[in-house]
Amino acid sequence: MITETEIKKGLAGVVVDYTAVSKVNPDTNSLLYRGYPVQDLAAGKSFEEVALLLWNGELPSQIELTEFIATERAGRALDAGVKAAIDLLPLDCHPMDVGRTAVSVIGARHALANDSSREAELIKAKELFAAFPAVVAYDQRRRRGLDIVEPREDLDYSQNFLWMTFGEEAVPDVVDAFRVSMVLYAEHSFNASTFTARVITSTLSDLHSAVTGAIGALKGPLHGGANEAVMHTFHEIGIDKDESREDAAARAKAWMEDALAAKKKVMGFGHRVYKHGDSRVPTMKAALDRMIEHYGRHEMLGLYDGLEAAMDEAKGIKPNLDYPAGPTYHLMGFDTEMFTPLFIASRIVGWTAHIMEQRASNALIRPLSAYNGPEQRSF
Ligand code: ACO
Repeated sequence: MITETEIKKGLAGVVVDYTAVSKVNPDTNSLLYRGYPVQDLAAGKSFEEVALLLWNGELPSQIELTEFIATERAGRALDAGVKAAIDLLPLDCHPMDVGRTAVSVIGARHALANDSSREAELIKAKELFAAFPAVVAYDQRRRRGLDIVEPREDLDYSQNFLWMTFGEEAVPDVVDAFRVSMVLYAEHSFNASTFTARVITSTLSDLHSAVTGAIGALKGPLHGGANEAVMHTFHEIGIDKDESREDAAARAKAWMEDALAAKKKVMGFGHRVYKHGDSRVPTMKAALDRMIEHYGRHEMLGLYDGLEAAMDEAKGIKPNLDYPAGPTYHLMGFDTEMFTPLFIASRIVGWTAHIMEQRASNALIRPLSAYNGPEQRSF
């Protein structure tokens, strides 16, 4: 007989396996990728270097990095079959559905789809890393009635991502804020989508199936969908470019007080693991601050501060990474519904690192349940 106290709803507090990919320490608000503090990586490394670190366990040598950059740049164009599949999808479907479908199609068309050797998995992971930005960029453009923009091999990952999306070269500050978001979103131990990828891998299924399933888990607003939901909150409060920072903060504060009085869950706040603040927020908030300065949008800072202060005062709950990331992507010019697909582009790295780790010391993930339905009966 299993008692109520033995049931760990949501697997809260349950340790299910080892991982060497990242370490989340809620006591010190710290996050290490393969031993390196994420804020140090965000300050001094390209997203391409961080990807190699997460996959291989060590930062790349110059030769490894140069090789990877060449492969990545050569693999950026949107595959004709994937484009044809995207074109079948209605413009009013959610962009996460487009991302999920695209990965599934890429898998179905891949010659190594069912080869689970580490070499093949790494090839597929790198290809997905290179190919996914074109999916997001094309989807963003087709929703605006714009033609596809071909990738450019003279640009780095972040520069090219913004180029393919907006059809113009982004200025260095914007590129850097985008790079920071990619580094911060890349990995976070056994979160819901990564765990989903590991569950699927544990059945000896293939990498693209695991990533496709992970995207499904990421879509929900309790996980990755929160960056989109944050922006819906900002819009519900109302964004007025001409409003002062102070007035915007006062309106945001009042909105939050009403929301909490109505017992609403406000997206972008709280975390299953961090209870005193998300380790990634200060770095992402600094990037948001730079974007607010760059675009001269101080009313956005007012909304941000007002919500944060009111939540802290009422419940002591801190923002998570999605809170500063949402308005950052908004200022860069992405449609709100595209925010979570941007999260996919980055988290592909973490998911595939975990898929390879799971594969290397696999055990089928299959927990137990306590049955509370009717006793045996006959019809
Ligand atoms: N708004 C209002 N209240 C909240 C919030 C929130 N965002 N988060 C937690 N609380 C409250 C709950 O209502 C609950 O209060 P109660 O004890 O009075 O009922 C208490 O804090 C504990 O909350 P739980 O949901 O039980 O805590 P859990 O650890 O399961 O939740 C979660 C973590 C799901 C992330 C939660 O904080 C939440 O729903 N946040 C909003 C969604 C979000 O931003 N998700 C992004 C996660 S980070 C990422 O994906 C990058």
